[in-house]
Amino acid sequence: EAPGKSIRHLLMERMPPDLYDTLKKSGELAESMGFNLFLVGGIVRDMVMRIENLDVDLVVEGDGIIFAKALAEAFGGKVSPHEKYKTAVVRLPGGRRIDLATARLEYYRMPGAFPEVEESTLKLDLYRRDFTINTMAVALNPHRFGELIDFFGAQRDIREKKIRVLHSLSFVEDPSRILRAVRFEKRFNFCLGKQTVSLISSAVQAGFLRNIPGRRIFHEMRQILQEENPVRCMDRLHELKVLEAIHPDLVFDERIRESFVSVRETLFWFRLLYTHEKVRPWFLYCLALTEPMNPETVMSIAEALGLRREDAEMLLASRERVRELMKRLASLSEILPSKAFGILEDAALEEMLYAMSRSRSATFKKIFSTYVTSWRNYRPPVSGKDLLVIGFSQNPELGRCLREIRDQGLNGEIRDFAGAMDYARTFLRGLRQS
Ligand code: CTP
Repeated sequence: EAPGKSIRHLLMERMPPDLYDTLKKSGELAESMGFNLFLVGGIVRDMVMRIENLDVDLVVEGDGIIFAKALAEAFGGKVSPHEKYKTAVVRLPGGRRIDLATARLEYYRMPGAFPEVEESTLKLDLYRRDFTINTMAVALNPHRFGELIDFFGAQRDIREKKIRVLHSLSFVEDPSRILRAVRFEKRFNFCLGKQTVSLISSAVQAGFLRNIPGRRIFHEMRQILQEENPVRCMDRLHELKVLEAIHPDLVFDERIRESFVSVRETLFWFRLLYTHEKVRPWFLYCLALTEPMNPETVMSIAEALGLRREDAEMLLASRERVRELMKRLASLSEILPSKAFGILEDAALEEMLYAMSRSRSATFKKIFSTYVTSWRNYRPPVSGKDLLVIGFSQNPELGRCLREIRDQGLNGEIRDFAGAMDYARTFLRGLRQS
């Protein structure tokens, strides 16, 4: 094997210094233990494509678990070994996570080749992977640190912008790769290879998607719904007839497509403003996907995707709350902030965002956005304590007064502490008179 080119400079350029250092020291440790160590998978693909990715996957030619333990010890980290699969996760003190897998040092009998061949076990490990672009590795042992290993033409396929499987049984071995193919194609703006498309079509027609646990399909589906642009992925899945092969009632028609587009816009808006607040895009898209379905259909699809009954019921309950919320909003005769607040505060943030994406009228859109950007964080200028001082006692009337002050505050009738206290005193007088 001719040595691959060195991408040490890329490693240096693309990895944060502490990570670069960790990789280097890991290679030295592996060397001292007589193992070969490689950086593999998505992180190498993304490095070559100049895309940020810090998910470190390592393959050890030797014993991944023994190595993981030594690595954790050397860095003062924690190891969680998985003896059965010979994999391990190491968590470093700074919080970084490193995934390790084992490529066993064995002699393999290669089909049709010489009887016993000592094959690079790394190559066999990489050969089992989904697409060529995911099969590159970077050597980490000191004498070849930074050497790019590309057995299957990954660099060529990246240049040609192609998603290609490594062999014709790839989708038979793992039909969930059909969804992965689409996800990568759309994420990178690549094209599926011609042969790969026809292998997908055959696998879909043969019904292979029904041969694997539904949960695996759900996992890949959710990954798709977490992508930057799930709309394009769903278009492609529709075109390749993948959706109907998963479940006959799973469709991506014009109406659902429009909902997806609005969900995407709403999420975009929200994430721009609130980078740190977690919402689950896939959940919003699931609401969109199931919106026109009756509950029985939703349950049937959920079952096909291996979801727990409780989870499917939670989705249905969310859907119900969204419908209720939109109905109540629509029935408001005049839109007073306190009234809108009272309706929206019952909804979870994700439900609210979904409802926002569904509302067509500018007035409603404005209500939702004002709720998100201001009302939901509104704090009235007085607290219960302030009211106790002027003669309230700890009873429901105090809560009622506070709520009224909040409502008046939201409506702009009460603006400051003095105004709120005036309101409270009047409230108290009313109580005493009655
Ligand atoms: N893999 C595979 N078949 C699957 C799932 C994964 O061959 N059904 C391989 C892929 O080659 C991938 C590696 O396992 O590179 C790790 O999988 P994953 O973490 O899902 O993929 P990434 O490439 O890291 O994708 P992402 O960028 O979305 O994290």
